[in-house]
Amino acid sequence: MEMTRTITVRHALMGDVDQMLEIINDYAQQGLMLPRTKLSICENLQAFLVAHDGESVVGVAGLHILWEDLAEIRSLAISEKAKGLGVGKQLVLSLTEHSKRLGIKRVLALTYQKEFFTKCGFHVVAKETLPQKVWKDCINCSKLPVCDEIAMIREAF
Ligand SMILES: CC(C)(COP(=O)(O)OP(=O)(O)OC[C@H]1O[C@@H](n2cnc3c(N)ncnc32)[C@H](O)[C@@H]1OP(=O)(O)O)[C@@H](O)C(=O)NCCC(=O)NCCS
Repeated sequence: MEMTRTITVRHALMGDVDQMLEIINDYAQQGLMLPRTKLSICENLQAFLVAHDGESVVGVAGLHILWEDLAEIRSLAISEKAKGLGVGKQLVLSLTEHSKRLGIKRVLALTYQKEFFTKCGFHVVAKETLPQKVWKDCINCSKLPVCDEIAMIREAF
């Protein structure tokens, strides 16, 4: 999965976990995304892609299966030094391809980054149209009482 001369996308490896956590949790501290624990990354490692520049992980994103026809992009984060290079879009498109390979028709993002996801082919949907299962993990979220994330969907095929 070649992207630029030096940054490439591949499946995450156990040796990437600490760098993945650092990128995700830096943004989580700014309130831009949800934090992850080391255990939750390790348990779900097979669901993650990373973008790397040599030894450095510069981007991360995971695909979480919600239902037979719906998978969610989670923990998408690009390090400050690699923003604006197309890395985020490449990760989202790679996960959309992965969803297609798995036979899952729709990909969901719950996000504040409406313009970015629009550029990736997503459109806004009313949260009420999503299956109940989407909200299963919200019970653990500090934003539950006033969730202001936008729900966006893209057809994988
Ligand atoms: C949002 C984020 C993932 C974007 O990744 P990125 O690698 O910088 O974005 P890309 O370079 O792939 O951009 C793809 C397109 O989206 C546009 N775009 C990217 N971020 C944007 C933003 N914040 N506002 C408007 N447009 C944006 C780019 O201009 C580009 O447009 P183009 O295709 O016309 O050239 C990254 O900024 C990030 O990690 N942010 C902090 C964490 C976060 O908010 N994660 C999302 C959780 S759902």
